[in-house]
Amino acid sequence: MCGIVGYIGKRNVVPVLLYGLQRLEYRGYDSAGIAVLEKEENRIIVEKQVGKIRDLQEYLWNKKIEGHVGIAHTRWATHGPPTIENAHPHISRKGTIAIVHNGIIENYLELRKELIEKGYKFRSETDTEVIAHLLEEEYEENLLKTVFKVIEKLEGAYALGIISTYEPDKIIGVRKGSPLIVGVGKGENLIASDIPAVLEYTKDIIALDDEEISVLKKDSVEIYGFNGAKKEKKTFHVTWDVSIAEKGGFKHFMQKEIHEQPRTVGDTITGFSSQDIENLFSSIKDINRIVIIACGTSFHAGLVGKFWIEKFARVPVEVDYASEFRYRDYILNRKTLVLGISQSGETADTRFAMLDATKKSGAKTLALVNVVGSSLSRESDFVLYTYCGPEIGVAATKTFTAQLVVLYLFSLKLAQYRGLLSEEDFKQKYKELLHIPSVIEEVLKKDDEIKNISYRYMNAKDFLFLGRGINYPIALEGALKLKEISYIHAEGYPAGEMKHGPIALIDENMPVVVVSPKDSLYEKTLSNIQEVKARKGKVISVATDGDKSMKEISDEVIYIPEVKDELYPIVTIVPLQILAYHIATLLGKDVDQPRNLAKTVTVE
Ligand code: AGP
Repeated sequence: MCGIVGYIGKRNVVPVLLYGLQRLEYRGYDSAGIAVLEKEENRIIVEKQVGKIRDLQEYLWNKKIEGHVGIAHTRWATHGPPTIENAHPHISRKGTIAIVHNGIIENYLELRKELIEKGYKFRSETDTEVIAHLLEEEYEENLLKTVFKVIEKLEGAYALGIISTYEPDKIIGVRKGSPLIVGVGKGENLIASDIPAVLEYTKDIIALDDEEISVLKKDSVEIYGFNGAKKEKKTFHVTWDVSIAEKGGFKHFMQKEIHEQPRTVGDTITGFSSQDIENLFSSIKDINRIVIIACGTSFHAGLVGKFWIEKFARVPVEVDYASEFRYRDYILNRKTLVLGISQSGETADTRFAMLDATKKSGAKTLALVNVVGSSLSRESDFVLYTYCGPEIGVAATKTFTAQLVVLYLFSLKLAQYRGLLSEEDFKQKYKELLHIPSVIEEVLKKDDEIKNISYRYMNAKDFLFLGRGINYPIALEGALKLKEISYIHAEGYPAGEMKHGPIALIDENMPVVVVSPKDSLYEKTLSNIQEVKARKGKVISVATDGDKSMKEISDEVIYIPEVKDELYPIVTIVPLQILAYHIATLLGKDVDQPRNLAKTVTVE
């Protein structure tokens, strides 16, 4: 995990680095630091703080640090607890080289031992510090050559930012397995883990590929492969504005992102056909099995996708947690499509499972991601995008509904290519889908109503979420949303499975959220609600407008507009996101940066 940023140019580097770190805080936020090259005395000043970026900002407030070259880091601890010593940047013994690192050096213990034998003393418990010492140990008149030498010794995944007093006119960025981009400005250049960190200064970006090194000077950017060969790389221009990554009048990013869903769902519907779908579907129309791998919320999207793909395209689908899939003896062949779903496209479990699958089986791979140019998108044979812009809140919201849209359209198109759905039927379904953004708009109007419900249940110790069929994954997702931001224990369960165990938990203190729209399984869900009521459980139901029976049987009802059965998941999740948001904020929790979590999990 972690986020890194580096700047070289005409401005004072400190505010630029702090701005970049704030944009990257979603990648980790347990400690942060900066390293600045001070020109006059040609020395590196390092300042670090435990806590969030604002703690570092306050700490730096009265310090007069000036310089035009620097690197910075926001950390999510892997090796060693969040302490000042373990925070980055790490500096070499003589103070001549400073580095920031995102990733894991797998052979660091071995390297550390060798360096200790040579007399090096370690200040931190991190895997990163070995790199700083190795660079100093190997340095002979050329920093870039030294970097080439050192990376030969490193095993693992890393993105690095390096500055040195030996060559104070440059920053070196290295990418292997962890994301790194270059922002190309006028008389100034930047490196960062993600695009929002540089947007204030430039919108022209180079996405580094794995095993590439960038050498940034004030007026130039050079890219090299790990083999030493210089490369020509294209810049691309980012069209979204930095304000998209700001809160835009909402209290939290999560709230803003929930309310953006009419737009992001709409953009994703229209964006779908602008992608290279012809090539994708003609290449995969003969597959006989699909394996979906993903984590967390993306996994839940995959579970909904299974229903659609099997229903319309009649291809069997398995959905697996990426972290589980990779370590079992899975069966794949050339007729299998492996579909990796990931908002960030950087989740290590998903990426490595996909890479493993390709290597071992030759199965075709398709990535469904939100972040353009992300690792997963580049490592897969095909890619489909959601069109959400950056999602900053740790809890995925708008990207979930957008993933559902893509999976729905994917299943319909695959059905069409397999001769199972007529053009006319596709058009009809597409028309119904186009109506969903305005349906979500209606649900968002219930915000205050849901807040009132939240007041009544915010002190519950546990929650159950129930759903059936295509709405069962929505129960899982509703429970995940609540637990990750409110820290209340919550479980998602198939409603029909309740009587096989979980019903024992129900008493008058247990709120049970039931996703119960008027679909083909409605009557069955109604019986399950009766079972909860008979044991005095408190029922909060999500029901279709006009459903009077649900009002009679539930303690609380959140009504949603009627849509076609198969489209309910894109709508029923919205009130559950709002419920989780209000319960968590009423409890005073930090919903955008919940404890122990980071937005993008780039470690296994
Ligand atoms: C979602 O609310 C979570 N924070 C988390 O489960 C997330 O969905 C998971 O880590 C996968 O991330 P990805 O979609 O970027 O791969």
